[in-house]
Amino acid sequence: MFTIRKIDVEKILSELKGQMKPKRFQHTLGVIQAARDLAQKFEVDVGKAQLAALLHDCAKCMDGNRLIKMAEEYGIEIDMVDREVPAMLHAPVGAELAKRKYGINDEDVLQAIASHTVGSENMTALDKVVILADTIESGRRTKNAILLREMISEGTSLDEATICCIDFKIKFVIKSKGLLHPKAVSTRNALLLKIQK
Ligand SMILES: [Fe+2]
Ligand SMILES: [Fe+2]
Repeated sequence: MFTIRKIDVEKILSELKGQMKPKRFQHTLGVIQAARDLAQKFEVDVGKAQLAALLHDCAKCMDGNRLIKMAEEYGIEIDMVDREVPAMLHAPVGAELAKRKYGINDEDVLQAIASHTVGSENMTALDKVVILADTIESGRRTKNAILLREMISEGTSLDEATICCIDFKIKFVIKSKGLLHPKAVSTRNALLLKIQK
C-alpha cells in the first residue's frame, strides 16, 4: 500500500476491511489505484488522492437514518433530496468521519471525500481525480465507465472528463426516474462555464 507521513494507512485499511463487505473493500482498493494513476496523469498530489480514495466510502455502509442523524449532528447541510435519498450523504458524512475518527486534517483531502458523489461548484483538480477514480476504477464494468476510461486514455482534459462523469450520473438518475440532486446540476453548470471561458 502507499505511505503518508503521520498517517497509519495500514491501520485504516484493516479497519475498513473489517467493516466493509468484500465487494466494497475491493472497490476501495480499485479507487486507490485509479486515483494514483489519475493523479500522476493530471499532476495532482498522489498521496492526497490516494488518501481521499482510501476513505471516500468510509460511511457507505451506514443506513439512511444513521446518515441523516450524523449529518444533523455534524451540521452538514441536508437537502430535500438527501432526506429522500440519504445514501447520498455518505460523502459529506464520510469526510467528517475521516476527520473525527481517522484523524485526517488535510482540508483538500476532506473536501475531495465530501464531494465524491455529485461534486461541487468549486471543484479542485484533486476533487475531480477522486470523483473520476470512483467512477472508472477497474471493478466498474458499466458502459459509461469503459467510455470514460477510453476518453481519459485518449487525452481528454480533467474538466471535460469530470463533466462527462457528472453527465453520466445525471442521465442515470433521469433514466431511472430518481431524484436529481441540485448539487449535480450546479457542479455541471460551474464546470461548463469554466471550460467555456
Ligand atoms: Fe461513494
Ligand atoms: Fe465509491
